Amino acid sequence: MALQTEQAVPELAGGWPLIGHLRDFLQDPVSMLGRGWREHGELVRFRLGPRDCVLFTGPEAHDAYFRAPEDQLDAKAVYQFTVPIFGRGVAYDAAPEIMDQQLGFLYPALRESAMRRFARLMFEEASLFANGLGDAGTIDLPQAMNKLTVRIASRCLLGREVRDQVDTGFAEAYHDLQKGINTLGFFFPRLPTPAHRRRDRARRRVVALFSRIMTERRRSGARPDDFMQTLMAARYKDGRALTDDEISGIILTALFAGQHTSAVLATWTGLELLRAPSYLDLIRNEMREVYRETEAMSLTGLKQQLALEYAVRENERLHPPLILLIRKVLRTVEYTGHTIPAGALAMVSPAVSHRLPEVFADPERFVPERFAPPASEDKQHDYALIGFGGGKHRCMGKHFAYLQLKAIWSVLLDRFDFRADGAVPAPDYGSWVTGPETPCRIRYKRRTKASVFR
Ligand code: HEM
Repeated sequence: MALQTEQAVPELAGGWPLIGHLRDFLQDPVSMLGRGWREHGELVRFRLGPRDCVLFTGPEAHDAYFRAPEDQLDAKAVYQFTVPIFGRGVAYDAAPEIMDQQLGFLYPALRESAMRRFARLMFEEASLFANGLGDAGTIDLPQAMNKLTVRIASRCLLGREVRDQVDTGFAEAYHDLQKGINTLGFFFPRLPTPAHRRRDRARRRVVALFSRIMTERRRSGARPDDFMQTLMAARYKDGRALTDDEISGIILTALFAGQHTSAVLATWTGLELLRAPSYLDLIRNEMREVYRETEAMSLTGLKQQLALEYAVRENERLHPPLILLIRKVLRTVEYTGHTIPAGALAMVSPAVSHRLPEVFADPERFVPERFAPPASEDKQHDYALIGFGGGKHRCMGKHFAYLQLKAIWSVLLDRFDFRADGAVPAPDYGSWVTGPETPCRIRYKRRTKASVFR
């Protein structure tokens, strides 16, 4: 980062003694941080209680943020609340080079040939789900998408054995683990609250379940093509195999990073699309074109569904499930003549950065076509669209997530007509992953038109 005449980052007006900007932040962080950007531009400082925070906004600032080395902007310190879930010695509790190796083990499980298989499994799971809906009714969309994405993640990432136990124990344990992520746990992850005790019990149940499956696979010699098997075959650079606890922890890392985020983005995608009937027609026409020859959902077909792809991307822009990415400043950062001292928290907010009118025209409007050539608004800069992060910690599951969202909505739009009343619901900032305020019910009715899929 270039060093110029150094000065402190300007502070956002409206801070209070002791609590700083905490009240506004808890109420509506995106409005507050958006105001920070409008008043001060790329860098703005604010206080959450005793903690100094600096927001980096705009593609150039993101570039500096994401390129900063780990010993300067550190993710590990911020993600300590995940340690009781992922486990000791796993991910953010491991040395950075070990975490790199652990996450690196997952890449083979996300290669193109695996994606081809996943597309089929996603189609099967979404179809099963659609069959279960009957001819007409009402669903709470966030709940429905949560259920479906747990099934898809279990089937694709964990394997058949876990998928078969989803409704008999795994989903419940997983739910208790999720509940272990709360505001208190962010600051005091080991505090013995009832929710934390349930979280710890749930982790033991999940590890026991995974261990039983691994033992059975070793006994029978079965080698299904999934995350678990990939990790069972993996070796650290020093030749050591992973323990069952490490394998369980890495699987939980991927599951936690990918499932709820996918459920939330699937929900937003539905909520926006159901209010854009002409764009829905475009997506359905495209499906008829793409599947005219093959009639079966496939990776190739899903890749050709560009109108749907742009709709998902527009939801990533308008409703990024992770509205804040956070790092702890370990060494002073200098950017555009400003100094950010060690000890502060450095943040980028995809939700704020995706609403910059210099980057995205008419940014509050849902306009999927903005991603189509020639506009291709996201292509102006590597870090214009950052819903999946960037740099060293960028999301490894982005392609999986896109594939999944496209598969889900292709099946649902093929089978049903939907109705949602009123405007798109407001975001609920009360949880780590930002979905719409609930309940969030939509009505559906089976279509009489023949399916485009066999
Ligand atoms: C819509 C769905 C998803 C969204 C919005 C999303 C978003 C993100 C973001 C913003 C980050 C960066 C976090 C940071 O910089 O602090 C990230 C990291 C990560 N994501 Fe995703 N993600 C999604 C789905 C997935 C899926 C499906 C998987 C696994 C198959 C996954 C695995 C990961 C992992 C392991 C990391 C941590 C990488 C690291 O720290 O090196 N994500 N994700």
